[in-house]
Order: sequence, then C-alpha cells, then structure tokens
Amino acid sequence: MDLATNPFKPGAGRVPPVLAGRSDLLSEFRTRLYQAREAGEGERPWILSGLRGVGKTVLLNQLGRDAAELKLIFVKVEASSSKPLAVALAKELHLALRRVLSSSDRAKALWSKAASVLRSFQIRVDPSGTYSFTVDVEPERGVADSGDLAVDLQELLETIGLAARGANTVILLAVDELQEASSGDLAALNVALHNLGQDVFPVPVVFVGAGLPSLPAVLADATSYAERLYDYRQIGLLDTTATSDALTAPARANGVDWEPDALAAAVTATGGYPYFIQACGSHVWAVRATDTISLQDAQIGIESARTEVEQGLYQSRWERATPTQRAFMSAMAVDDDAPSSMAELVTRLRKKRTTDLSVNRRDLIRSGHIYTPERGFVAFTVPGMADFIARQGE
Ligand SMILES: Nc1ncnc2c1ncn2[C@@H]1O[C@H](COP(=O)(O)OP(=O)(O)O)[C@@H](O)[C@H]1O
Ligand SMILES: [Mg+2]
Repeated sequence: MDLATNPFKPGAGRVPPVLAGRSDLLSEFRTRLYQAREAGEGERPWILSGLRGVGKTVLLNQLGRDAAELKLIFVKVEASSSKPLAVALAKELHLALRRVLSSSDRAKALWSKAASVLRSFQIRVDPSGTYSFTVDVEPERGVADSGDLAVDLQELLETIGLAARGANTVILLAVDELQEASSGDLAALNVALHNLGQDVFPVPVVFVGAGLPSLPAVLADATSYAERLYDYRQIGLLDTTATSDALTAPARANGVDWEPDALAAAVTATGGYPYFIQACGSHVWAVRATDTISLQDAQIGIESARTEVEQGLYQSRWERATPTQRAFMSAMAVDDDAPSSMAELVTRLRKKRTTDLSVNRRDLIRSGHIYTPERGFVAFTVPGMADFIARQGE
C-alpha cells in the first residue's frame, strides 16, 4: 500500500529532505555572497567546524547551490592526507575554468589569462597531471609557478579573482575535511588568504573551509594570525524545534503525520544529531502501516535505527581499534561526550606521564576516532561514542 518513497536520507553527505535549523547561517552567507558580487569584492574567509555527522558537508553543498543560483562559480575540493591541497585545487579550478571558457567568446576573452596562470600553477604542482582545455592555453611563465605555495596560491587566486570581477561573478572556494591537509599546506593557505584580504580592493574570492572541531586549533598552529583571519562558525546539534521540523516536514510533504507522543519519542532519541535524525526518520517511515505514525511505530523504528547506527558508526570504529586503544577510549568514555583531560587519563590508565599515552593518542587522532578540542584534552569525533563504549563493558 505504501507507494511513497522514503523521503529520509541517512548517510554521509546525502542531501536531507529538509535542511533544518540552518536557515540563519544560510541566509547570512547568501547575503554576503550577494554583496560580494555586487561590490566585486572578497569577503572574510569562513570556517565551519563540528563533529562527524552534524551536516557540514551538506551545508557546503547547499552554499554551492545558493552560489550557483546567484550565478557565482562554486569550486569544492576535499582535503586528504594522501594528496597535496594544491593538486586538488588545480584539478577543480581547471574544471571550473574549462566550463566558463567554453561558454562564450566573451568569456574566453575574460578568462584566458586566468587559465594561463592556472596552467603554470598546475605544471608546478602537478607536472604529470593531464589537464586539457577546449582551447589552447599556454602557461603564463613566471606567475604562480615559483614553487612557494603561499605565493603561488595568492597569485593564482588573485588572477582568477580579477577575471571573476570582470565577469561580474564571485568564486566560492570550498574545502571540506580541511583538518586533513598537511600543516605546510594549511600555512600556505593562511598566508595566501591573509594577503589577498589585505588588498585595498580584495578580489571576489570567498573561501569556506569545513572540518572537525579541531580545525580552528589546527589552523592556528599553522600560522598564529589564523585566529583573526577567519570567521569561525560551529555547526552543532539541532535544537528541539529544528529536530521536529527535520522529522515532520518530509513526512507531511508525503501525506504522513506523526502522533505527538511518537514525535516526542523520536526527538528525544535522536538528541538532535542530524545523522541519527535521518536514520530514525527512515526506519520509522519504513515500519509505519498507515499515514499516521504511532508511538509504537516510532519505538520500533528508533530501535532498528539505533542498531544500524550502532553498527555503522560506533561498532566499526570500536572494532578497528587495538586493545590498548580501546582501553584509552574506555577511559575517555568516563567523561561521557565531554572532553577528557590527558592528565586525568594518565591516572585512570595507571600510567606515569602523558607521554606514555602519546602513541595511542596520535594513532586515534590519525584514524579519526578522536580529536584535540584544546591543548591537553581529547574528545570523540562522533556524538554518542562514549555511551556506546559504556554499554560494551556490561
Ligand atoms: N540540518 C539538517 N537537517 C536534517 N538532516 C541533516 C542536516 N544536516 C545534515 N543532515 C543529515 O545528516 C547526515 C550527515 O550529514 P553530513 O553533511 O555528511 O555531515 P558531516 O559532513 O558533518 O559529517 C546526512 O544524512 C544528512 O542528510
Ligand atoms: Mg562531511
């Protein structure tokens, strides 16, 4: 009888049916992009930070759609520890320029210098890469090819930004998982953005980076002035109203309503965690038998969502960890989802000093289980991990 497809979208980066609780942030950003285009001038770079599964990637993608609607150019890359940031940037900028170059003769004239500079940048950072434009593009020797990434990136963004200004548009440059970039790459990025922002009339390039809550500290470690360079926004859990919206609006759009007690149970169970909201919505949707979701439907759905999330999110992390790493995380779980002090963990694990724990700490950070919210502390990257671990001991 159920012909309506499940509107909920559990899973990393999947566009939620309703992007709940983020409208203030989105409309502020949209206004800034609009102003950047009208003035032909850049904006302070933004950093969005938050735990895994709170919705940073979907926010970046929504910013990209908003930008496209304003006829801006959206370029997005994902930083990773296995690939230099410059290579990822060269690739995506190439695709974006390739598109504008082929759009019209006027565009070709406006963007050809930017394409030449990108070419010289690319030859320097990724000599073996294969990049082709639909028209011949000769590298602009001596620009953006010094080998000093900070200088080259600045020259590249400046040239592309000037072209964007001429074309009455803005480049929105987004980097997801920015904490994964090497410290050298981050330092170069900071320097380049800092210098671009100091122009009398900064070019219309708007940068937005997203990553784990450690990102502000990671950037500050790369260069001291990073604290003042970026506009930092924390992306947190959703409040009760937004959580209700996220669960009810997609259902209502498909002719289904929640009984008040069913909704209350689901809102409480999800704790406002967007990843879990989608999982819960999806499972409850699947078990309901009519166009009204009862408390019993909700309870069954919540339980199966919990089992799934537990396996996908927590169990897999737990199983990948070594016995000593598990002991380390169990000692952290005592603090629930709050950060744990390294000094306190030393006592709990009956060690002498914090250096006795540095190998576990480093490996758990590398594998993405934990991060450093501030010096001397560690915390879990996914909400609810502590609770899961506490239940393992039983
Ligand atoms: N504001 C929101 N409202 C409803 N669902 C959301 C929201 N933000 C994210 N989600 C959902 O949460 C999940 C995780 O989103 P994602 O962007 O991958 O998180 P992150 O990048 O922070 O790890 C996805 O299933 C997505 O659809
Ligand atoms: Mg993400």
